[in-house]
Amino acid sequence: MVYGQQTASQTETVLKAENVNVYYGNFLALKGIYLDIPKNKVTAFIGPSGCGKSTLLRCYNRLNDLIPIFRLEGLITYHNNDLYAKDIDPVQVRRRIGMVFQRPNPFPKSIYENIAFGARINGYKGDMDELVERSLKQAALWDEVKDKLKQSGLALSGGQQQRLCIARAIALQPDVVLMDEPCSALDPISTLKVEELIHQLKENYTIVIVTHNMQQASRVADLTAFFNVTATEKGNRQGYLVECDRTEVIFQNPKQEATMEYVSGRFG
Ligand SMILES: Nc1ncnc2c1ncn2[C@@H]1O[C@H](COP(=O)(O)OP(=O)(O)OP(=O)(O)O)[C@@H](O)[C@H]1O
Ligand SMILES: [Mg+2]
Repeated sequence: MVYGQQTASQTETVLKAENVNVYYGNFLALKGIYLDIPKNKVTAFIGPSGCGKSTLLRCYNRLNDLIPIFRLEGLITYHNNDLYAKDIDPVQVRRRIGMVFQRPNPFPKSIYENIAFGARINGYKGDMDELVERSLKQAALWDEVKDKLKQSGLALSGGQQQRLCIARAIALQPDVVLMDEPCSALDPISTLKVEELIHQLKENYTIVIVTHNMQQASRVADLTAFFNVTATEKGNRQGYLVECDRTEVIFQNPKQEATMEYVSGRFG
């Protein structure tokens, strides 16, 4: 894979994959991944369905551990520590590396409790009202919900629910926020709100976002990683990283022909 020169040298690397292979049972879903995720940047994962974007994202917070047939080879480091070392507690990893999913999934609790609940079970001892307000403000939702904090989170619109889920994730004061197609269930206005939010969040967080929306990647991401799939002789579809570079390079002048075909819609 080809790596842009600017990325690794200029900023600290938060997550690093070195020769990572991911298996589900005997199926090799992702092969030979080398990738650096830089601090306080937005990195987008793009590529056709089944190329392993969600799989790699879930490797970063050990969410795949919950899948019995999952197996990882190679090394993923988080701030230079082996993320899969025996003494690493996956629950702590998920506190530091939060996740926002495709479908907004608020708890069936009040807006307030959606934030407070997770903070409380993670041992937060500070002023809860203050944490709720700060998290909702950071998620650009406060003004819309400040007068109805006792209402159910499920009574919000889809776009508001997604920002509530982002507020819930950042209330735990994570270091990294992983987002798997966070706007695919949202209308264009809510999508733009979430994109503006992502833009602001990178001041404080490192963000990795999976998206099928090329415009979105070009709007929000500093770096873009293009993944693809190849068919093996056995008919398996193996995912791999084609290239990662600054977003404008990926969209305007990528090193690989396949990347240009994909980003310009001339694919498959
Ligand atoms: N829990 C699982 N068990 C077995 N195979 C899986 C599992 N999750 C994913 N896979 C397989 O791994 C490959 C990569 O899947 P993944 O969901 O990571 O792709 P993706 O790039 O996120 O696709 P999409 O764009 O459709 O979300 C696919 O072939 C998929 O069928
Ligand atoms: Mg996916």
